[in-house]
Amino acid sequence: MSDQITLRQPDDWHLHLRDGKLLESVVGYTSCVFRRAIIMPNLTPPITTIQGAKHYRQRILDSVPAGISFTPLMTIYLTDDLSPKVLEEGFVQNVFTAAKLYPANSTTNSAEGVSDINAINSLFETMERIDMPLLIHGEDMDPNVDVFDREAVFIDRHLQPVLKRFPRLRVVLEHITTEHAVDFVETSTYNLAATITPHHLHLNRNAMFLGGLRSDFYCLPVIKRESHRIALRRAATSGKSCFFLGTDSAPHMRGAKESSCSCAGIFNSPYALESYAEVFEEEGALDKLESFCSEFGPAFYRLPLNKGSITLIRKKQMIPQFIYLDNERKHQESIVPFHAGEYLNWSVLTQAN
Ligand code: NCD
Ligand code: ZN
Repeated sequence: MSDQITLRQPDDWHLHLRDGKLLESVVGYTSCVFRRAIIMPNLTPPITTIQGAKHYRQRILDSVPAGISFTPLMTIYLTDDLSPKVLEEGFVQNVFTAAKLYPANSTTNSAEGVSDINAINSLFETMERIDMPLLIHGEDMDPNVDVFDREAVFIDRHLQPVLKRFPRLRVVLEHITTEHAVDFVETSTYNLAATITPHHLHLNRNAMFLGGLRSDFYCLPVIKRESHRIALRRAATSGKSCFFLGTDSAPHMRGAKESSCSCAGIFNSPYALESYAEVFEEEGALDKLESFCSEFGPAFYRLPLNKGSITLIRKKQMIPQFIYLDNERKHQESIVPFHAGEYLNWSVLTQAN
């Protein structure tokens, strides 16, 4: 049994960095391990312009700890009235790497998302023509659809028809949570891939109700039953290039999580790589960790592989209960990291180089 794993430096293909003080506090957890990340545009207000994305990129770069190389890959937030011209210009200028489709009101800061997927064909047409990846939060927001079925219904009602209409469009179904999504992605003949988060690999929906209502485990798409977790673990460790790493690390302050209407999102970036390593080891698939973390994502996005490496050692570490944003240690302004209070078996030995 190996006690040390050296990987090509990984990238995070789905990340929420937020803005302002929160951005400054969280970006270092990603940049000390990951070389690049796809940055989600769901700020308030969302990133819907070239200028907005450029400025946000700069704020991210300004917040990265000195001496660390980190490339934020920006995305644009699709809205009902976004012009295809902006999409194309931003992509051609290398400001946007991809576009993000949030069905309106599906998750945090998605109120300005797309209200009718059939009404944005001109955006899909443009993206297919210029070969710009489309990243999808795949949940159907029809109020008659059960919250646990939203992903499966979205695939059947929306994703399948969009792929049919735009067969050359490159699509990532983000943070998949169901066996249906796994089957759909792995059998698809289109240019379709999926990201998988650490928390959907570790948890089933019981976690949200263990001894009371636990908002720390509330995220969207919501965590599903055990059979789905098993399917996701099989997919992530399959060695199939259509499944790759995307943490969906989504920090919310304690005050917003400890609320009668808690925010959705799990902050996993401080121990994300260790968390994935634990899953791959449990599945007897540590030999597949590197391709999932560091190779399949760049292949999909047609970007070069990273040159640096990072080493994990088998060393137990206790995950802290809270991460404080500043030295004042204000409870409401702390964030609970994923795995808080648990032990993980692996530790990152060297910072990325
Ligand atoms: C994300 C957030 O907080 O921005 N929340 C989440 O539960 N994953 C949004 C998202 O990706 O759905
Ligand atoms: Zn997300």
